[in-house]
Amino acid sequence: MANTKANKRFRSQEWFDNPNNPGMTALYIERYLNQQFTREELQSARPIIGIAQTGSDLAPCNKIHVFLMDRIKAGIRDGGGIPMEFPVHPIQETGKRPTAALDRNLAYLGLVEVLHGYPLDGVVLTTGCDKTTPAMLMGAATVDIPAITLNGGPMLDGWWKGKRAGSGTVVWESRRLLSEGKIDYDEFMSRVCASAPSLGHCNTMGTASTMNAMAEALGMSLTGCSAIPAPFRERMNMAYQTGKRIVEMVYEDIKPSDVMTREAFENAIIVNAAIGGSTNAPPHLQAIARHAGVELDVTDWQKVGFDVPLLVNMQPAGEYLGESFFHAGGVPAVMGELKKAGRLHEKVMTVTGQTMGQNLIGWESQDQAVIRPYGNPLRENAGFIVLTGNLFDSALMKTSVISKDFRQRFLSEPGNEGVHEARAIVFEGPEDYHDRINDPALGIDENCILFIRGVGCVGYPGSAEVVNMQPPDALLKKGINHLPTVGDGRQSGTSESPSILNASPESVVGGGLAYLRTGDRVRLDLNAGRMDALVDEGEWQARKDAWTPPVLECQTPWEEIYRKEVGQLDKGGCLELATAYQRVRQTLPRD
Ligand code: FES
Ligand code: MG
Repeated sequence: MANTKANKRFRSQEWFDNPNNPGMTALYIERYLNQQFTREELQSARPIIGIAQTGSDLAPCNKIHVFLMDRIKAGIRDGGGIPMEFPVHPIQETGKRPTAALDRNLAYLGLVEVLHGYPLDGVVLTTGCDKTTPAMLMGAATVDIPAITLNGGPMLDGWWKGKRAGSGTVVWESRRLLSEGKIDYDEFMSRVCASAPSLGHCNTMGTASTMNAMAEALGMSLTGCSAIPAPFRERMNMAYQTGKRIVEMVYEDIKPSDVMTREAFENAIIVNAAIGGSTNAPPHLQAIARHAGVELDVTDWQKVGFDVPLLVNMQPAGEYLGESFFHAGGVPAVMGELKKAGRLHEKVMTVTGQTMGQNLIGWESQDQAVIRPYGNPLRENAGFIVLTGNLFDSALMKTSVISKDFRQRFLSEPGNEGVHEARAIVFEGPEDYHDRINDPALGIDENCILFIRGVGCVGYPGSAEVVNMQPPDALLKKGINHLPTVGDGRQSGTSESPSILNASPESVVGGGLAYLRTGDRVRLDLNAGRMDALVDEGEWQARKDAWTPPVLECQTPWEEIYRKEVGQLDKGGCLELATAYQRVRQTLPRD
């Protein structure tokens, strides 16, 4: 062990080894003895490392961490630390109603209290399913004790009748086939279940793989951590190495604030474009940045990331899944290609104790069918476009999933490329959409844009992944798989829909979408970065003046607290009051 370990007094010693307060020290010690620790250990001046356990029976995407725990703890022990595992409020993307997004901030709050209020000197953040990763990084950013992420890894690739069946992506495709009457209920179920062949999180480049790539791009995980499939032996090795490393990080005092800098966030935005990452990354990264005290704005996604080419050929933007991505080198191979092209900030510090540039030495694509070189991408300009207009201050569009067919149909009017004018069809949430989408009275045709509102952070609550609305069955049967869709909610990161989403401010707080009516003409202009309702100004103002906010019924106390405190998606959907609390570790809680 390095001699940097001498003369270091740890935060945990304020609990377990404080001769100035024998009364409390004895109380802290005696109860931790009765499980597995000895007094000698607890008073040995070794760092105590928390392990934030996000896996459970209720959180299957992260369940692998239950089995990785032995390896994490062994790494911490071998590194000279003392591991203490603790549970995190479960966040399961598909199982939690009304939305898992509602619980991101709840798990965040819980983590802040644990990291602040217990004798911990560092923490391993187990991550995986969509919101678990940002929740853990947000909490670590607020408290600012040494922290490292360990992803559980994606599932093995799913297969259905000789074709790759990717998490989520197979659902969107199969739903269309079911609506068109091409498959029945049983085949629908079998196809979707085929996409989940093992432990792990979604195997597409959905929000889970994206957010773990973001953690790695930020410098918060060991190099190569995020893409290792959950059942692979490399995953167990990574768990051990991560445990070992966090102990060193505590001695070196490498904190989230040393790693998650403005430059690190810019690296993450660039990586997100290159991997064809999820539209959920902007609000999550925004939230992490705000809790870290880093200036980041939704428009940075276009400024920093739009001109980055798509390098990763993975569903939903491409064809492969997690196993191929891992074998091609995963995130460090993508970053290696970006580094060669001079697109990264290389000097940023990372949890390895080395700079990102040093971490990436020797990394490049091992399979150019899956990870393309920078000079031969799948497409150019693969980042997000940030739109504005009278319907919202900001909304995002993921360009890497705009298909040729979609572009031709809606954005290629000769002499007017990138512009589309259409009739608005407005739905009040997903129930209304399902009730009416096939209603012939709406007359939905190719010259319509579908809108959904009331599905943002306050409205839903939590913001629902419902903006990627399927066209009516009649259009599907004509081969029109996508209409332009717009909403103040989000969409699944596994969706191949080029929706316009995360519209902020949302309708229930008086955002522009609130005043739109079915039948209004709307104009999308990608060149000008605008979307507007073509409604006369006086009429628009009259609608605003007549508007009253809807009455929102809460079903749980947390929903009510959340609705009072949450901000908008373009600001990360944070609990606004929480963003004032930074570097909490600098003051100890009372005894
Ligand atoms: Fe949990 Fe996709 S649903 S990772
Ligand atoms: Mg989702």
